[in-house]
Amino acid sequence: MAGTVDPSVEIALTVNGASVRRRVEARKSLVDFIREDLELTGTHVGCEQGACGACTVRVDGALARGCLTLAVQCDGGAVETIEGVAASGEIADLQAAFATANALQCGFCTPAMLLTAQELLRDHPSPTGAEIRAGLSGNYCRCTGYHAIIEAILATARRRREGGRG
Ligand code: FES
Ligand code: FES
Repeated sequence: MAGTVDPSVEIALTVNGASVRRRVEARKSLVDFIREDLELTGTHVGCEQGACGACTVRVDGALARGCLTLAVQCDGGAVETIEGVAASGEIADLQAAFATANALQCGFCTPAMLLTAQELLRDHPSPTGAEIRAGLSGNYCRCTGYHAIIEAILATARRRREGGRG
């Protein structure tokens, strides 16, 4: 009698600092795992092809496309989502600057935009507008026209420099 092949794999990782152990389908993307299995829906799904950046998360400290990463590839790793990064207070000033500058409308792109902006500010504490535009070039926003987003990031960089952060 032919046996049934179980396509799932057990993985163990940390998500926002908490240990997680789950069986997942070998072909399941990281973003689907985060949203469906862990019910962390702050990470969004847009194109599912690596183009829009909506699914951005951190894997082992580096930004990654959740739609192009398999959940099983994160076995043994550390994943951070917008929920964890926001709860840590790490981007509180950036979030406030986005709100002040009206740098979001529908909010679909915003979690990924914040994570990308935070990485940008880490690498470029005094970014120019051109550096910000280049840094955000993999994150699509269909609403804002980007101007307010760039203003919010510039304002955050300025405040961090004045406050000795970043
Ligand atoms: S959903 Fe992953 S890049 Fe668009
Ligand atoms: S605020 Fe709507 S996609 Fe960016």
